[in-house]
Amino acid sequence: MPVPENIPENIRADCKMLRDEINRHNCRYYVLDDPQITDQAYDQLLRRLQRLETQYPEQVSSDSPTQRVGAAPATHFESVRHEMPMLSLDNAFDEAEMMAFEKRLNDKLSKESTSLPYTAEPKLDGLAVSLLYEQGLLIQAATRGDGKNGENITANARTLGSIPLRLQTERIPARIEVRGEVYMDHAGFRALNERQLENGGKEFANPRNAAAGSLRLLDSRITAKRPLTFCSYGIGVIEGDYLDDSHYDRMMFLQSLGFPISPYIERVSGIDACIDYYRAILQKRDELAFEIDGVVFKLDNLQQQAIAGTVSRAPRWAIAYKFPAQEVMTKLLDVDFQVGRTGTLTPVARLEPVAVGGVMVSNATLHNMDEIQRKDIRIGDMVIVRRAGDVIPEVVSTVVDKRVQDSALPEMPRRCPVCDSSVTQQEGQAAYRCTGGLVCAAQRKEAIKHFASRKAMDVEGLGDKLVEQMVEQKMIDSIGDLYHLEMVELAALDRMAEKSAQNLIDALEKSKQTTLARFIYALGIREVGETTAESLANHFKSIESLQEAEIDHLQAVDDVGPVVAENVRLFFQQPENREIVGGLIGQGIHWPSIEDKRNNSELSLVGNTYVITGMLEGLGRDEAAALLKARGARVSSSVSAKTTAVIAGEKPGSKVSKAATLGVPILDQIAFQALLG
Ligand code: IVH
Repeated sequence: MPVPENIPENIRADCKMLRDEINRHNCRYYVLDDPQITDQAYDQLLRRLQRLETQYPEQVSSDSPTQRVGAAPATHFESVRHEMPMLSLDNAFDEAEMMAFEKRLNDKLSKESTSLPYTAEPKLDGLAVSLLYEQGLLIQAATRGDGKNGENITANARTLGSIPLRLQTERIPARIEVRGEVYMDHAGFRALNERQLENGGKEFANPRNAAAGSLRLLDSRITAKRPLTFCSYGIGVIEGDYLDDSHYDRMMFLQSLGFPISPYIERVSGIDACIDYYRAILQKRDELAFEIDGVVFKLDNLQQQAIAGTVSRAPRWAIAYKFPAQEVMTKLLDVDFQVGRTGTLTPVARLEPVAVGGVMVSNATLHNMDEIQRKDIRIGDMVIVRRAGDVIPEVVSTVVDKRVQDSALPEMPRRCPVCDSSVTQQEGQAAYRCTGGLVCAAQRKEAIKHFASRKAMDVEGLGDKLVEQMVEQKMIDSIGDLYHLEMVELAALDRMAEKSAQNLIDALEKSKQTTLARFIYALGIREVGETTAESLANHFKSIESLQEAEIDHLQAVDDVGPVVAENVRLFFQQPENREIVGGLIGQGIHWPSIEDKRNNSELSLVGNTYVITGMLEGLGRDEAAALLKARGARVSSSVSAKTTAVIAGEKPGSKVSKAATLGVPILDQIAFQALLG
C-alpha cells in the first residue's frame, strides 16, 4: 500500500477536484433545486472518487462525499447538551389568535404601527435537529430531545445528502450551529412503507414517524437507505461577525454556506400579509411533495426579537399558524363494499363525518381485507383517518384503548352487494371479486364510466352521475348501447334538457373518431392501462389481429406479461365482448391506420418510455405526451427503472426524487424541446 509521501501530486489533486465537483453538484441538487448533471453522471463522479480512495485510503477524509454510507452500528446514543436551548413554538389556530400575537408584540415593542416585518416559512412536519460545524466541518448532529439535552445522531445525519459535511464558501464562521427539520417526502414515505411490507417489517403511520424512526436508528447504514431530507430554518450558536440583523438575511447566508432552505421563504409585512401567506401556502398544501402542518412567522428583526424575548419554552417573537389536521380520530360506523370496474370488492369505511385537512370526510378506503386484519380494525372502533396530498382518505389505524365491547370485525360478503353473484378470492391475491361480470350493475356502470372517460373515448359531458342514472333506468346496459341513445330519452333524464341532450349526442358522435390505442384502453380489459393499450395498438395495428392473438404472440409485446396476456385473451374469448366490439365498429368508431408508422423517419423515439411531471411552459401535459407518442415513444405515469427519462417542468412532484433514486435521467423543458427536435 503506498505511503502518504509517495502519493503522486496528481492523485491528491484529482481527489480534491472530484470532491469539490461532487459537493458542487450536491449543492445544485439539494440547495438550489437545479441539478446540472444527470444522476448517472453524478454516480460516475462518485465512483471515480471511490476508486481513487480505495487505491489510496489515506486520501479518504471524513468530509468526503463517499463517506455517507453509514458506519458500524452503535449500542446507544450519547446525550448532548445544547449550548443554546432548542425552543418550541407557540401555536395559532385562527386569525384572532394571529391578531393577538401581533398585538402582544406591538405592546412589547411599544409600537403603534401593526406592520411589523416577519419572515414567513412553511412548517415542515418532521423532527428538529441541530448541526454543529467547526472550521466548516460537521462535527456534531443532535436531536432536539427535551430542548436542553438531545441525542447525538452524528453518524446518522452524515448519511443525508442534504446535510453538508463541509461548508463550501470562503467566508466560514469558526463555529456555527445550524438548526432545521429532517423530514421524509410523500414519495419516499410510500416507497419506504412498500419496502417495509415486502420485508415483513412494520409500516410507518405517517412521514413524521418514518423520519423520526429512520433518524434514530442505531445502525446508520440503514439510515443511509432511508429517503430523508434536511431543510434549515435557523441559527443557534455562532462565532464570528457574520450575521445581519434580519432572520431572512441569515437564511440567505445559510443558503450561501450550502444549506437547503425552504423555497417558499418570504419576507412579509404586517399580520394581514401573514394571513395572505397562510392562505396561499394552504392552497398549495396538497400539491407539495412533502407534508407541512402550518406556517411559521418570525419577527424578522433580531433586535426586536431580543426585546420580545422568550416565555418558558417558546419565543414571543415567533408563532406557528397551524393548518387543519390531516390525521383525525372519528368513529367507524360501518364497512361497505364497493364494486369496481373489474369486480374487485373494496372495503369502504363509513365514518362519523369529520373535517380532515379542512375537508369533510365521511368515507375512507380500507384498501382490502388483509389490511383490515393486519390493522385489527373493527366496526364501532375509534379510528385514525388520514388525508394527505391528493390521495383518497384512508383509515390508518384503530385506537385500541377506546375499543368498546361490541366492536365487530368486518366480514367480506359471500355474495355481491350489488348483483348477488358469488364472490371469490383468487389464489395468492388479497382481492375478492364479484363473479357477475356484466350482469353486475356496478361493474357495468364502472365499465361505461371508464369507456367515456377523458383518456379513453373522451365523451364530453357523460359524467358519472349521468351514467348511473342511465344504467339504473335501464336505458343502457353496456358500452355497446351508448351510440344508440336518442335525444328524446336523454332529454327526459334528471338535470338534462334538450340542449344538453343534443350536446351529448354531438359529443358521442365526435368520440367515434379516435385512435386504436384509445379504443383498446376504453374496452377496460383488466390491467390494460393506457401504456399497455398503446403497445398493443402499435404491435397489432388492428383490432382484428389483436382479437385473434395467441398468448405467446401477446407476450411478445413490450410491457405485456403472462397475466395481461391472459386477460386480453380471456376478454376476446367471450362472445359478448366480441359482439360489443363488432357493434361499436359497426356504429362508426374509427381510427387512422397505423400501418406504416414504423417506417416514418419521424419516429425517433420508438422503444423509449417517458414520464412527464410538473408544468411545462405553454404546453399541457397531455399535449406533451401526444408529441412524444407521435414520435413513437411511450408515456407512462409512474417512474420505474425502465423509464428512459423523466421530463420535469416547473414545480415537479415526487417523480423527480423517485427518478433520482433510480438513476433515471431528468430532462428540463429545454432538453425536452431538444429531444423533440
Ligand atoms: S423555528 C424558536 N421554523 O416546529 C424557533 N420550526 O413546533 C424554533 N419546525 O421544534 C423553531 N418548521 O421542529 C421553526 N420553519 C420552521 C419550522 C419549525 C418546522 C418545527 C421544529 C420545532 C417545531 C415547533
